[in-house]
Amino acid sequence: MTPALPRPVVLVTGAALRLGREIALTLAAAGWRVAVHYRNSAEDAIKTVADCDGLTCGAAAFDADLSSEAAVRGLLPRVIAHFGRVDAVVNSASTFEHDSAASFGFAALDKHLHSNAGAPILLAQALHAHVVSRGALDGEPEHAGQCAVVNLLDQKLWNQNPDFFSYTLSKAALEAAGTMLAMALAPRVRVVGVAPGLTLTSHLLSDVQFAAHHKLSPLGRSSTPADVASAVKFALENSSITGTTLLVDGGQHLMRFERDFSLM
Ligand SMILES: NC(=O)c1ccc[n+]([C@@H]2O[C@H](COP(=O)([O-])OP(=O)(O)OC[C@H]3O[C@@H](n4cnc5c(N)ncnc54)[C@H](OP(=O)(O)O)[C@@H]3O)[C@@H](O)[C@H]2O)c1
Repeated sequence: MTPALPRPVVLVTGAALRLGREIALTLAAAGWRVAVHYRNSAEDAIKTVADCDGLTCGAAAFDADLSSEAAVRGLLPRVIAHFGRVDAVVNSASTFEHDSAASFGFAALDKHLHSNAGAPILLAQALHAHVVSRGALDGEPEHAGQCAVVNLLDQKLWNQNPDFFSYTLSKAALEAAGTMLAMALAPRVRVVGVAPGLTLTSHLLSDVQFAAHHKLSPLGRSSTPADVASAVKFALENSSITGTTLLVDGGQHLMRFERDFSLM
């Protein structure tokens, strides 16, 4: 009798709240064991872990400041030490602070680049090294297609405006890194982008403004958290997708916006 394969493990960054939490719960419901990463939101991370466990799935929380290279390099080994393996990483955590062409400086650029591009690249590098070291492709062909990195991007890369200058640059770097990593890490690790449209509101928008902006798309609605999470699940489960991005935005990238939604 063939022994049962262990359930795959996914690390979801920024999974205490908002889109990361929705992704964690969706993957838990699909049978993944979830490593819930957080930075400051410890209580919410514990709740995400409990809710994932309620979906009959193992889960555990891991803190790390993704702007620290040492902390990022230490994260995957901690997840592997806990679960014994890791099969996928979803890079959802993101720094999102406003700057413009006028206020741009190295400090803002470094901050966004480190957490939004550098950390996802290091986590992809670490996943690949782990998968190689455990011989997943050779020894466990059933899991080969499940080794993947999903990077959360943003429809505004295809519909640019000069607001949130450093954030946008960091996501552009991550999008380019996705292409290079898909080539460099094949065949063991796939790399896929998921680019939401306006999905959740921020402190910069009233509820009325958010509802109005959410309708601004060819389909009359932008993405919901469930739309984004199901695209991430699809990207993780479809073993032939790599080096491309799914835009999940109701078509917002096909429209022209002169300002970021939060400043319109
Ligand atoms: N929300 C949207 O409408 C939308 C639209 C387009 C694209 N996206 C993309 O989708 C992803 C998720 O969006 P979101 O709105 O859920 O994100 P978010 O609320 O802005 O941030 C998610 C989490 O990122 C973590 N984080 C930020 N900086 C960090 C750092 N230096 N180290 C470690 N963790 C850090 C924070 O964790 P703690 O709270 O634990 O500190 C935060 O809760 C992001 O990549 C975003 O760019 C979102």
